[in-house]
Order: sequence, then C-alpha cells, then structure tokens
Amino acid sequence: MTDGDHVPVLLQEAVDALAVRPDGIYVDATFGRGGHSRAILAALGRAGRLVALDRDPDAASAAQHITDPRFTFRRTWFSQVQAVLAELSISRVDGLLLDLGISSPQIDDPQRGFSFRVDGPLDMRMDPTRGESAAAFLARADVREITEVLRDYGEERLAQSVARAIVAARAIAPIVRTRQLAALVAQTIRTRSRSDRSQDPATRTFQALRIFVNRELEELALTLPALASMLATRGRLAVISFHSLEDRIVKRFFASASKPFGGDPRLDRLPIRTAALPPAPLALVGRAIKPTEREVAANPRARSAVLRIAERTDHPLPAGFAKALGA
Ligand SMILES: C[S@@+](CC[C@H](N)C(=O)[O-])C[C@H]1O[C@@H](n2cnc3c(N)ncnc32)[C@H](O)[C@@H]1O
Repeated sequence: MTDGDHVPVLLQEAVDALAVRPDGIYVDATFGRGGHSRAILAALGRAGRLVALDRDPDAASAAQHITDPRFTFRRTWFSQVQAVLAELSISRVDGLLLDLGISSPQIDDPQRGFSFRVDGPLDMRMDPTRGESAAAFLARADVREITEVLRDYGEERLAQSVARAIVAARAIAPIVRTRQLAALVAQTIRTRSRSDRSQDPATRTFQALRIFVNRELEELALTLPALASMLATRGRLAVISFHSLEDRIVKRFFASASKPFGGDPRLDRLPIRTAALPPAPLALVGRAIKPTEREVAANPRARSAVLRIAERTDHPLPAGFAKALGA
C-alpha cells in the first residue's frame, strides 16, 4: 500500500507495458498517490526522468514526498501535457501512462463529494479550482440536460425520472449534499422497478455526474492523439480504464491509429488502396490486459480495469493526425 491508502491497479503490468529503458523519459499523467510513479522510478536508471501530472491538489501534496531528482510534478489537467513538456524542454518521451478515473483517497474523503455512502458537500471536482461542482450543475440545468448527462455518462435507464425528481426537489430546497442526492435517487428508483439490486441505486447517477463535471471523456479523447504524437519511436502508451465508456474511446483510438492511416473514417468508404495511405503511427502491443482474480479479490476497485498498450512505429505522423481522430 502507498501513502494515502490507494492500492495501484495492474501495477506490475503497467510498468512492464512501458518497457522502461533505464535512461528514458516517462510521463505518469495521473499521479494519484504515486504508486505507479514509484514503480517507474524504481525501474529507471540514474539518467532516467519521470514527469508526473495530476489536477488534484491532494495528489500534488502527496507528490511533494518524492524528492528524487529524476522526478518532476506539475499540478494540471493532462490535456496540458504538451505545454508542460515544452516548458521542461522535453520534445519526445519514451513512455506515457494514464491510469484513469478517481483514486481511493478521493472517494474516501467526504469533503470531496464523490461518495454516496458518506455525507459531504456535493462537489465531485478533481480540481476544485476549476469548473462547476455537481451541486452547481444540478441547481441550474433543466430536466433535458440532466437526463442527457445521467443517460450518456451513467447509462441510467431511469435518467428522466431521476432528472424530474431532482428538478422537483430543488424547488423546495437546493441539492447540496451527497446523501441528500443519494436518498432522492434511491426513492425515485425504488418507486420504479429496480432491476439491478446488487448495486446501490445512486451508483449510476454519481458516476454520470463525476464524469460530466470533470469532463473525463473529453479530456481522454482530446489527449490521446497528443500523447501519441509525443512518443519517440518504440515509445509506449499504456492506458488503464475503469468503465466501458472510457475503454471504448481508448480501444477506438488504438484501433484507428494502428491502421494504415485509414484512421480517418471518411477514407474507409472510398476505394483507396491501403498502400497509398500513410502507414500507421501506432502498433498494438498484445491484447487488453485484465487483473487476475487474485488482484480483484485483494482490491475490488480493480474489478473493471482494462490495460491497453500501443507502441509508436517509426513512420512519420500523418498530416492532420489529431484532427482525423476527432480530437
Ligand atoms: C486512478 S487514480 C491514479 C492512481 C495512481 N496511478 C497511483 O498509483 O496512485 C487517477 C488520478 O488521475 C487524476 N486525473 C484524472 N483525470 C485527470 C485529468 N484529466 N488531468 C489530470 N489528472 C487527472 C485524478 O485526480 C486521480 O488522482
């Protein structure tokens, strides 16, 4: 266990995925409590370098405990990774890791507002200095907007019923506490037929609001092409995702960037010979890796984790790479 009680998921697998070269430059774009960062530092030699990012202020405090001269931390959103590397005069890296989602300390601290089990302010921002809290969103959005968020990011079948209940309840009192929202959702879903009784009724609503408030899918989709473009030849990109929405983005990006640059879906329908297209900038490395039963038994948070790995080929990046991938 590392400090702050976050057990890193797929730790050895992720470090193996990066195929760490002793003198290489690596980026851990989701530092959390530094479990993966420490393992990367342990694999690096004296000339190696690790740059870590996280937008969470508590992760930034935890990073101060690493005093290793090979280590640099910046508190920022990972979509800013190119600017951070430019500021550090780094133009190419040998490996990048994204371990997506939230960390156990974020969930466990009621003041952060991620937990529907313990009461706290309904915030849910990983970076509390930017953007709108979950409470602020629920105070201003209409039924249609709330329904879309719950349906698109939480795959909540009863999204509209929950959205209506929220709008009706806020006319009486603002929804500002996590337990207040959890109770409201439970009440709404219980009165409709609840099919999945193994899951807390608030699970989907909380997941949806968290993804929305933190722009998690946008960050991921925007950043993947940027990460790939910063890799040196044979550099590795390793991504651990925790739910199907983010895994789908990773899987599609890897699939399109590892094809002769038919990565542009508009070209797929035209009679263009593969040989005439720019060669693929990435190559897939193995199949998706999932945690062993033993890891899941020891750390239930690992349950839904999937690690995907790609390697930068020696072909130049096709013009408009990021644009063609929809970033
Ligand atoms: C699952 S935890 C990472 C845990 C870490 N690998 C460890 O071993 O401790 C994910 C971390 O990524 C951060 N994070 C998520 N999305 C981010 C983004 N777009 N930009 C910066 N940090 C982000 C969260 O604040 C959280 O600390």
